[in-house]
Amino acid sequence: MDAILARHSVREFVGGKISDETLEKLVHAGMSAPSAMHSAPWHFVVVTDRDRLNGVSGVHPYAAMSLQASAGILVCGEPDSEILKEFFDQNCAAAVENILIAVSDLGLGAVWVGVYPNKTHCENFTKYFQLPENIAPFAWIPIGYPKNPAKQDNRLDLSRVHRNVW
Ligand SMILES: Cc1cc2nc3c(=O)[nH]c(=O)nc-3n(C[C@H](O)[C@H](O)[C@H](O)COP(=O)(O)O)c2cc1C
Repeated sequence: MDAILARHSVREFVGGKISDETLEKLVHAGMSAPSAMHSAPWHFVVVTDRDRLNGVSGVHPYAAMSLQASAGILVCGEPDSEILKEFFDQNCAAAVENILIAVSDLGLGAVWVGVYPNKTHCENFTKYFQLPENIAPFAWIPIGYPKNPAKQDNRLDLSRVHRNVW
């Protein structure tokens, strides 16, 4: 619960290197997500190259935070590897959320930048990251050291909870 409640979007970062060990932990968190029929259809493009990170700000209108990020992970899916193709996006979303929670728990910050199913974003990311034809970009996660202290809020809304029937 602590890690889930601490997670929030971070869009401003101060510099600093993120170790390969930490990046591997984040990918491990992503790959530990549930997936329909355990299809695990994901791939992860881990980005640390400064120029490549900066360039993402030019392929997505809401990804300017990539200019300050120390690293980024592009979560991708391989829909053809799935028995239940219609669950491809839900499986990838579970991986993204796991990564975001792990980021926060490791004292870093990140934000979910939506790519799929926007056709233009998908085409732009496919081209920019030279993805093969059978791979779909799903979400971009810029990661860094947060500039500002964590916000705390309580979003529990019991009016949205329905017991046994609506
Ligand atoms: C599918 C999805 C797409 C999102 N796309 C963007 C985006 O393009 N740029 C951005 O700054 N934030 C994006 N966000 C982050 C949301 O704005 C953020 O999660 C929401 O405002 C709630 O704030 P919190 O993450 O701090 O709880 C996206 C979140 C989701 C789940």
